[in-house]
Amino acid sequence: MLETADDLYQRCWDSRAYLRQYYAEPNLPADDVANAQFMAEQLRAVLAEPSKASEHHPSWPDQHPTLTNVPGTPVPICGSSTPNHPCPPMSSSRPASSLNNCPKIAGTTTLDTALEFGCGPTIHHAAMLVPFVRSIHLADYLPQNLEQVRRWLNGHPEAHNWDVYLAGALAEEGLTRPEDLVERKEQLRQRVTALKQGNIRQENPLGDGATYDLVASFYCLEAVTADRAEWALFLARLARLVRPGGILLLGAVRRCNVYHVFEREFPTTYLDESDFAAELPRVGFPAEQTVIRVAEGVGWGEQGFDSVLCVRAVKGA
Ligand SMILES: C[S@@+](CC[C@H](N)C(=O)[O-])C[C@H]1O[C@@H](n2cnc3c(N)ncnc32)[C@H](O)[C@@H]1O
Repeated sequence: MLETADDLYQRCWDSRAYLRQYYAEPNLPADDVANAQFMAEQLRAVLAEPSKASEHHPSWPDQHPTLTNVPGTPVPICGSSTPNHPCPPMSSSRPASSLNNCPKIAGTTTLDTALEFGCGPTIHHAAMLVPFVRSIHLADYLPQNLEQVRRWLNGHPEAHNWDVYLAGALAEEGLTRPEDLVERKEQLRQRVTALKQGNIRQENPLGDGATYDLVASFYCLEAVTADRAEWALFLARLARLVRPGGILLLGAVRRCNVYHVFEREFPTTYLDESDFAAELPRVGFPAEQTVIRVAEGVGWGEQGFDSVLCVRAVKGA
């Protein structure tokens, strides 16, 4: 009988080995430089308050030299209807005093809620959402991945050290002081208010009916199936978690059939920019509010891919 990807994750995944293989580099790897820069740039553009929309932030370059926008997907400037209001209540496990520190990028609207779906054992992508969102939920299929996240949130002595990745991502926002790293870690620990088990193979992937102002997902959907039609179904399910007018942020390996973790092969959907351009409008994200960017030569060739896709889309109202 054929092994499903689900079985492969349940039987063969090792969170610590994954962290050692992909997240123990001495510097932020090029794919995450691309993701960090794309997120900072795109969130700033989408969430710009109308009067500030045309302002240029000097520390965030307009275009990374290794990135190319896919023709026909211009960078739009669109407002967000989400109003500014005070931070939401934290879960009971968090002290109320932590509510006082609500970071905000000048000139941008702050969203209420974000979900990172398929976070794995990582927290560095979520850290990049902090300046734009009050409350972040992290979801993954495997409890062992969520346990690694929980350890980091709780300051467990054996938690993975994310400092290199966080400092590298902050540098893409123009934040290079040691205090910036300390502050972002503290803010992230305050902002993450729920860890959820999620399964994109289920009709309702979170099982709770929640929807979000922003849904982000990195290297997840294409890693769950090698089948293009099934990937499109998963994308549709993820899209339903985004509220009307909300934002979808995706990072995906490009033109890859398998990726390698600890000498295992994990089948992936072979995708490129045309797949996202075709499917996103079908699941509620108009092409004119979508940016698809290719980051070439990001240096994971031995693991099965050497380019990635960065996607930002805004759901129709
Ligand atoms: C390649 S990893 C990506 C992890 C992380 N986002 C990152 O950037 O390193 C793929 C992730 O998909 C998750 N996954 C596997 N099957 C899943 C499913 N059925 N539903 C949701 N996530 C799943 C795995 O647990 C794993 O964390």
